[in-house]
Amino acid sequence: MTCEQQIIIGESPSFLEIIEQTSKAAGHNRSVLVIGERGTGKELIASRLHFLSPRWEQNFIQVNCAALPDSLLESELFGHEAGSFTGATGKRIGRFEEADKGTLFLDEIATISLTAQEKILRITEYGTFQRLGSNKTLHTDVRLIGATNIDLPEAADLGEFRHDLLDRLALDVITLPPLRARREDIIILALHFGQKIAQERHWHSFPGYSEDMIDKMMSYTWPGNIRELKNVVERGVYYAEDEHEPVSQLNLDPFNSPYRPVKQRKKITTIEHAPRPPQDTGPLDYHQTLEIYEKELLQNALKANKFNQRHTAQYLNLSYHQLRHQLKKHSLLG
Ligand SMILES: Nc1ncnc2c1ncn2[C@@H]1O[C@H](COP(=O)(O)OP(=O)(O)OP(=O)(O)O)[C@@H](O)[C@H]1O
Ligand SMILES: [Mg+2]
Repeated sequence: MTCEQQIIIGESPSFLEIIEQTSKAAGHNRSVLVIGERGTGKELIASRLHFLSPRWEQNFIQVNCAALPDSLLESELFGHEAGSFTGATGKRIGRFEEADKGTLFLDEIATISLTAQEKILRITEYGTFQRLGSNKTLHTDVRLIGATNIDLPEAADLGEFRHDLLDRLALDVITLPPLRARREDIIILALHFGQKIAQERHWHSFPGYSEDMIDKMMSYTWPGNIRELKNVVERGVYYAEDEHEPVSQLNLDPFNSPYRPVKQRKKITTIEHAPRPPQDTGPLDYHQTLEIYEKELLQNALKANKFNQRHTAQYLNLSYHQLRHQLKKHSLLG
C-alpha cells in the first residue's frame, strides 16, 4: 500500500525528541526499527521516515506481517513463480521487488518466521533474494523499516528473533513514548481529533471540552494510547447534542452496561480443554505438579487450536511471545 503522509501532532519534550530523531534517521539510507506500545503512532513515524527521506518519490510499501500465515507471508514478501505451491497459479512479484528504490515497512516484524528472517537478512546484506519456486537471484534496493510492540532483544534471547537480523535492523531504533509519558499532548491531541469530528458533523466551530472532561482525560492512563484517545474523543463529539456547549461526555468503555453478557466463552472453552489439576491424593511436589499441569494445558490448547500458535496464544490470553516462551520452557516447540 502506498500511503500519504498524515499530520502528526505533539509538543511534549519526549515527543519532540522523537520527531527530531525521525528527521535525522530519514536522511540516512539505513534500516530503522520503530518500537512502541499499541497505538503510540508507529505507523505514522514509519511513513514520516519515508516521506522525509531521499526516497520519498518512490514506493512506500507497507506489509502487516501478523496478518498472514508464514507460508503466504513469504510469497507476499519475496514473490513466487507459477506452480511453486498449491494455489500459486500465476507468477507474483513480491513486496521486496515492488519496493525497489523505495521503502518497505514491515509492521509487526517480530511475528516473521525464522526462515523468512534468514532471507531478509540476506537482502539487507547483499540486496539479493529469490522468488519462491525459482533459483534465479534477483536484486533489490530497499530501505527497511520494521515496527513492533514487543521487546526484540528479549525475543532474540529466547531464540524467536535472529540476533544477526536484529543487529542489522537496529542501526537506528526509535522508541515511541506511551501517551502517559507525554501528558502535555493529551489535550492537544484531543482537540485535534475533536475538531475533525466537528467538521464532519458540519459544526461551525469546535466548542472544546468541559473542565470535568479535561480533568478525567488528564488523569486516565490511556492503555490504548493515541488510538484509544482518538476513539474516546470521537465518541464524545458524536454524542454531543449542542455545538455551542463544551463537549462533556467521556465514555471510556462503550461496553459498560448492566446487561453486558458475563465473561463465559473463553472460560468455558478453556476449561473444556484444560486438564484437571491432579487430585490431592497424598504429599505432592507443588512445583513439579504445576509443571505437569502447565504442560498438559499447553498441549491441549495447541490441539484445540490445530497447532496454530497465534490462535493458541489468543485462546490462552497470552501474547505470542509469552506462549512461545512457555512452549520452549516445556520443550514443545516443534
Ligand atoms: N502524533 C500523532 N498525531 C496525530 N495522530 C496520531 C499521532 N500518533 C498516532 N496517531 C493516530 O493514532 C492512531 C494509532 O496510530 P498508529 O496506527 O500509527 O499506531 P501504532 O503504534 O502503529 O499502533 P499498533 O501497535 O496498534 O499497530 C492512528 O489513527 C494515528 O493516526
Ligand atoms: Mg501499527
